[in-house]
Amino acid sequence: MKIRKYIDEKTIEERIIRLADEISADYKGSDPIIISVLKGAFVFTADLIRKLKFMPKIDFIRVESYGSSTVSSGKIEKKTDLSIDVKGKDVLIIEDIADTGLTIQYLIGYLNSLGARSVKVCVLLNKKEKNRKVRIDYYGFEIENQFVVGYGLDFDQKYRNLPYIGILEKE
Ligand code: IMP
Ligand code: MG
Repeated sequence: MKIRKYIDEKTIEERIIRLADEISADYKGSDPIIISVLKGAFVFTADLIRKLKFMPKIDFIRVESYGSSTVSSGKIEKKTDLSIDVKGKDVLIIEDIADTGLTIQYLIGYLNSLGARSVKVCVLLNKKEKNRKVRIDYYGFEIENQFVVGYGLDFDQKYRNLPYIGILEKE
């Protein structure tokens, strides 16, 4: 497999600072809980939360949809439970990427079922030309409909440690 650099470290870093400013302004005076979606969002989450101007409680949830293919299976499975009570709270989901949007749709439903007061969504990458039912409140970059890896995103559990976003090219 060959990786072609698509979004470099500096571009990601600068965008995250602006994104964090926008989120900080919107949540000013409230006390949201951040739910980071494992595994893909762990790198993005670590960078984004350190630029926020408020002190959120942070929890993680692991869901799986893909298996080892590059095409969504459409079947979402929750693998872990939350450890913070979201009832009556404003919740911000942090996810690596919105592709079909089914994972986010599932999580919004789940958090609503737990009684969250509001649920918003922040993704690093927003794939274009998807006709989704869910609203993405914040995103870092809109990207073409192609398979990307790095900065937390994997192909078959590899490439998460790349510091940039790359496109996987089959040789
Ligand atoms: P969705 O449910 O189709 O929106 O897919 C969401 C999940 O699929 C994300 O959390 C990612 O883990 C994974 N995914 C979707 N597109 C990509 C990609 O281009 N590279 C790596 N993982 C992806
Ligand atoms: Mg994922």
